Formats: sequence, structure tokens, C-alpha cells
Amino acid sequence: MNFQEISNKRRSINFFDTDKDVTEAQLSQIVELAANTPSSFNLQPWNLMVLRNPEEKEKLKSLAWDQPKVVEAPVVLIVLADKAGWQEGHSTFEKNWQEMLKSGSMKLEQREWFLNATKSLYDWSPEANLAFAAKNTGFFAMSLMYAATSLGLETHPMDGFDHEAVRKAFKIPDNYWVPLLLAVGTMKPGLKLHPAKWRKKYNEIVVSF
Ligand SMILES: Cc1cc2nc3c(=O)[nH]c(=O)nc-3n(C[C@H](O)[C@H](O)[C@H](O)COP(=O)(O)O)c2cc1C
Repeated sequence: MNFQEISNKRRSINFFDTDKDVTEAQLSQIVELAANTPSSFNLQPWNLMVLRNPEEKEKLKSLAWDQPKVVEAPVVLIVLADKAGWQEGHSTFEKNWQEMLKSGSMKLEQREWFLNATKSLYDWSPEANLAFAAKNTGFFAMSLMYAATSLGLETHPMDGFDHEAVRKAFKIPDNYWVPLLLAVGTMKPGLKLHPAKWRKKYNEIVVSF
């Protein structure tokens, strides 16, 4: 499938086939394809919780507007945006620093510059922390959806859930914000998709001030 086909094929699927699994191999391929997503300073401030267990999915559904797809989809991902992913001492931040040294894209003496750059961009307000985490993780989530489509699977993103209740129920640490849940699976057989929804045209998207 080329990108035009993937882009046209991806739809939010409301009803999943409960008899069709998403294998571990498929899921890891989706996640690793999506891992190619670009991010600020390559900090990759995203993580995923993978829910397959019916009881866990039932618990999530009760906090997510009772949307049936949360239990019907074989896999539901809790997408996590790490507000602390730019901080010195964070494991990904430090790994990224070591990788940059290894590849020669940064030199030891640039450490202070790098620390100041990330701090000045992402630490001037709580909104800046959140924006850093949410924008990068949003790109990652989109890649997950396109990657799943490219492998013949279907997805459904959801932000219809009680954020704080989900955080509490799944013991999600404070540094994470949850931008969305993502159901992954196969469409229930025998259903017909509604026509694709309207989209803004070029002239409605481009503005000037
Ligand atoms: C971040 C995000 C959150 C969404 N939350 C929900 C949701 O909780 N429940 C739902 O039924 N659809 C949800 N949607 C799906 C949108 O309604 C859907 O993407 C949009 O109507 C366009 O349809 P399409 O994805 O089939 O092209 C969400 C989409 C996104 C991107």
C-alpha cells in the first residue's frame, strides 16, 4: 500500500471482530514502524500500555464512556505522553545524549547547551511541559494508526474517557498525560462503512493574518 492508499483507507472503526486477534508480531511491527516518528531533539517522549486482558479492558471501558470498542478490539493501547521526557536524568534523555555522542552529532562540551536548550523550550510553564509531550506523542499516535492500516488492521482513537480516573485505575505516574486510547483490531464482518467524513479543503486550512 502506498501512502495515498493508506491515508484513504484509514478510518475510525466502531465495531471490531472479537474473533480476530492482533498478534504480538503484528503489534510489535506496528509499534516499531511508528517509532520512526520524528520528535523534538529525538526525545521520543511516548510510551504505551497494551491492554489485552478482558477484565482490564472492561475496567477501561467503564471509564471511557462505555464505548463498546474498548472491549471488542483485541488490543487497546493507552497512549502515554511523557511531560518529563526533556529533563536531565530521564532515562530516554540520557540515552539520547549518549547516542548523540556516539554518532558524533553532539560533543561532550555541548552538554550545557543541550540542557539549556531543552529547558528553555519546554520548562517555562506547565503548558510548555504538556505541549512538548502532547505534540510529539500525537505524531506518534498518528503513525501507529497509519502503520496498523498498512498491515491491513483497523484502529479507533478515543479521547472520550475520564483522564484522572484512568490514570488512577491503571496506576499511571504523574509525569504522564494520556492524549488518547487507541483500539486496534479487525473490522466486524458484515458491516458496511459509512462514507468517509468531510474534510477541510486546502483553502479552508491555509490562513493569513
Ligand atoms: C484524538 C482523537 C480522539 C477521538 N475520540 C473519539 C472518541 O472518544 N469516541 C469516538 O467515537 N470517536 C473518537 N474519535 C474519532 C473521530 O470522531 C474521527 O477520527 C473523526 O470523526 C473522523 O473520522 P475518521 O477517523 O473515520 O476519518 C477521536 C479521534 C481523535 C483523533
